[in-house]
Amino acid sequence: MSERLSVIGTGYLGATHAAGMAELGHEVIGLDIDAEKIERLSRGEVPFYEPGLPELLRKHVDSGRLRFTTDVREVAEFADVHFIGVGTPQLKGGYGADMSYVDAAIESLAPLLTRPAIILGKSTVPVGTAARLAERVRELAPVGDEAQLGWNPEFLREGFAVEDTLRPDRLVLGVDPANPGRIEEVARRVYAQALARETPIVVTDLATAELVKVSANAFLATKISFINAVAEVCEATGADVKDLADAIGYDERIGRKFLGAGLGFGGGCLPKDIRAFMARAGELGVDEALTFLREVDNVNRRRRQHVVQMAERELGGKLADAKIAVLGAAFKPDSDDVRDSPALDVAGQLHLAGAHVRVHDPEGMANAAKVWPTLDFADSPEDAVRDADLIIVATEWKQFRALDPNVVGELVAHKRIIDGRNCLPAEEWIAAGWDYRGLGRHSA
Ligand code: UDX
Repeated sequence: MSERLSVIGTGYLGATHAAGMAELGHEVIGLDIDAEKIERLSRGEVPFYEPGLPELLRKHVDSGRLRFTTDVREVAEFADVHFIGVGTPQLKGGYGADMSYVDAAIESLAPLLTRPAIILGKSTVPVGTAARLAERVRELAPVGDEAQLGWNPEFLREGFAVEDTLRPDRLVLGVDPANPGRIEEVARRVYAQALARETPIVVTDLATAELVKVSANAFLATKISFINAVAEVCEATGADVKDLADAIGYDERIGRKFLGAGLGFGGGCLPKDIRAFMARAGELGVDEALTFLREVDNVNRRRRQHVVQMAERELGGKLADAKIAVLGAAFKPDSDDVRDSPALDVAGQLHLAGAHVRVHDPEGMANAAKVWPTLDFADSPEDAVRDADLIIVATEWKQFRALDPNVVGELVAHKRIIDGRNCLPAEEWIAAGWDYRGLGRHSA
């Protein structure tokens, strides 16, 4: 059954969710305060890189099932279910989450709700937010108790966002048990297709639903920092972290995923979510419970420094005037997102240390240039590595994994490479005469 939905906030999360919901057969209106973004989306243009999303967006803008606006009144009039997908970035000058966009979305929408409506929050928020907002919605909405708010966190990964939206591995719905209203019934209608495929759904209280999201991201961050901490020990002992990860990963209780040692995690979610989680625990008086996340963050930051130091060592202790090619700027492949990107951080630090850094990224260069306009950007990997004294692979794009060490060897000044993501076929590079260094590997 088709529902009339709105999605408030049209960033990575909101734009994908809006197009995904249209694909599931619903009629959708997307809202954003950024007029330029709305104009582009209305033309069927995705303002960021996400595989599969442009096709989906165009399909449903053309079919008329998906449209966009900057006018919240249009949204309140049209939709019966409103998803909140605005950002909750890290506060400037603090660890907590900036809630101003979420609050503004509720403050503008709720007073316009004159008929029964359901609001489902998707943004990642500090625990306790949903209960506060549910109360605020009841206060502000002319329809009173008939405007109900639940929490429905989103687990989508950039690069796989369309797949994760259309075929999620689980659904989570937070509802106030004292005041459940129609939220579950409506959410089950919205997600009927996924539920028909027996996608697990966890219906729980609001606080648990909020905590599920941050706990999932904190766990993933911890897993990555765990293997990176072990990589440090491997380097000190001549052991190999990749073999080690394979070996422990065969244990089903551990699993091999997210045991990729390297430059560590970045992006718009993991780093800020663990910090916001710590900040919230502090406010709740249980900061000790999450002190370990500080260490998770520290291990992760050290990776970037470590690669800069490795580069310095490779170059005989002198970064100034060295020619370094950094392959990768996005925080991970199949994304143009450079928020808290380890790759860009390394490139920037080397640049500040006086090296001539040339960066290439298949999709992330425009965003990278906004953050680091003084870096030198190359149009191709070949262009970036020409005459280089050292190459650093900082994001594991398939284009970089597929580079031929013999061909690249003809272009550089010195055959030195640091594989910051342990993603290259090391033996082939070594066989082609390269001084190859992985992270936490035999050759480190
Ligand atoms: C993450 C969560 O996975 C997703 O469920 C949530 O909704 C949003 O946050 P995303 O930020 O898209 O998604 O990236 P993810 O694929 O989790 O990767 C995060 C970072 O960890 C990347 O920088 C990646 O390079 C790094 N990473 C990942 C590793 O360093 N090693 C690994 O083994 C896996």
